[in-house]
Amino acid sequence: MHGLMFREFFMFAEDATSKGFVQDMIGASRKANASDYDASGPYDQDELIAMMDFLARRTGYEFDELCNDFGRRLFHRFTVLYQELFEDQTMALDFLHGIEAHIHEHVRTLVPKSQPPSFEVSRPKPDELIMHYRSARPFADLCAGLIEASLEHFGVNASVDHRPIGDTKSEAVFTITTHS
Ligand code: HEM
Repeated sequence: MHGLMFREFFMFAEDATSKGFVQDMIGASRKANASDYDASGPYDQDELIAMMDFLARRTGYEFDELCNDFGRRLFHRFTVLYQELFEDQTMALDFLHGIEAHIHEHVRTLVPKSQPPSFEVSRPKPDELIMHYRSARPFADLCAGLIEASLEHFGVNASVDHRPIGDTKSEAVFTITTHS
């Protein structure tokens, strides 16, 4: 897992609580052999999930709602951290269509130990995009938050149908339809 996920989650948790809380959360969830949480190192995904669980239990946040909010926050951070990837983008569905081939594929090459989720995408109609999400992690709700924030970013009126596959939350089909 890309260290960026930890760094961003710490900021998210700190905003939801306080600085001291983040230290407690790390103390409670950190594995004995964990390395420093810098943005480029690979990390154990179970550690992140344990921290998300800790935050959910301490704040009364539902885990799914926390994932969704963290996904939304992550998207806004991507627009700041990777501004260049948004420069020529004006259409929400085209942008989402290209996540797998243009963005996550590059992440896999640049950071070999990263594990972005995979998307099988199809565009049955100009106003409809189907994204089949598959991940090593139970982050379908995080994905929903990223998709919703993308649509808001591009200012489109759209509906998102989120159909879970199985009950692990690591696979889902999102059908995104834009309305004029
Ligand atoms: C400029 C935009 C984006 C960049 C640079 C980017 C890059 C990344 C990176 C670096 C990670 C961490 C990978 C890891 O943990 O090893 C990640 C995770 C993730 N990305 Fe993207 N991403 C972008 C947009 C999106 C969008 C719009 C979606 C939704 C369609 C998405 C879906 C996800 C999900 C759900 C994860 C969490 C890990 C998982 O579910 O397995 N990303 N992305």
